[in-house]
Amino acid sequence: MDGNGRWAIQRNKYRTSGHKAGVESVRKTIHEASKQSIDFLTLFAFSSENWSRPKKEVTMLMDLFTRALKKEVPELHQNGVKLNFIGDMSRFSSNMIKRMENVASLTKDNTKMVLTIAINYGGRWDIVQATNKMFQAIESGKIEKEQVNEKSFEQFLSMFNLPHPDLMIRTGGEKRVSNFLLWQLAYTELYFTKTLWPDFNEESLQEAIQEYIHRERRFGKTSKQIEDSVKC
Ligand code: FPP
Repeated sequence: MDGNGRWAIQRNKYRTSGHKAGVESVRKTIHEASKQSIDFLTLFAFSSENWSRPKKEVTMLMDLFTRALKKEVPELHQNGVKLNFIGDMSRFSSNMIKRMENVASLTKDNTKMVLTIAINYGGRWDIVQATNKMFQAIESGKIEKEQVNEKSFEQFLSMFNLPHPDLMIRTGGEKRVSNFLLWQLAYTELYFTKTLWPDFNEESLQEAIQEYIHRERRFGKTSKQIEDSVKC
């Protein structure tokens, strides 16, 4: 969700007002994704690297996130959305951790859509924490060293029970993944748009999906193999 700061600067406003406007885009995107029957939506709300922003902006973002959770959760719950949080929780206050745990617990049986919010998340952090958990599992005899492979390693990653993303959308014009879901993005289709996040709306999501459905996903195979498997 990139481009909040630039959106605000273009309007002679403080960067923080761009983040506030970004919450509205979050709401529109969740609503449209649900309407489009998207089962899994993951939002990169705060990266491990975002702590290095000015303290005032970080405090405001945490506050905005807490308030948005409080305000939006009842409606999300009513609409069958299951919320899930991924990231290094160790830097958050116990109050904030409790709030996220309560939301996850309240919505755990919902089945309309899984909304994952990545907060203080980094793809490299995720791979390292998974590696540490795997070492512990080996030491305690839960798995054998010989059993380590891509599939067994995955169960230690934050998104272990969720499918890999089909499509990653990055707003704001930059063409990079910036430490998002590094493991899971291996075969994800990437979509970059110049639209700044606060301007991203229902039509923007529809456009991204339209482009996605015309992509050919080969997963290392040839076009012919894919065509043949569709015919079968
Ligand atoms: C990146 O734009 C955006 C963020 C670091 C924060 C995203 C947060 C929200 C949209 C609001 C809260 C989220 C939820 C899930 C309730 P930027 O500041 O890097 O923009 P710039 O590149 O133009 O400076």
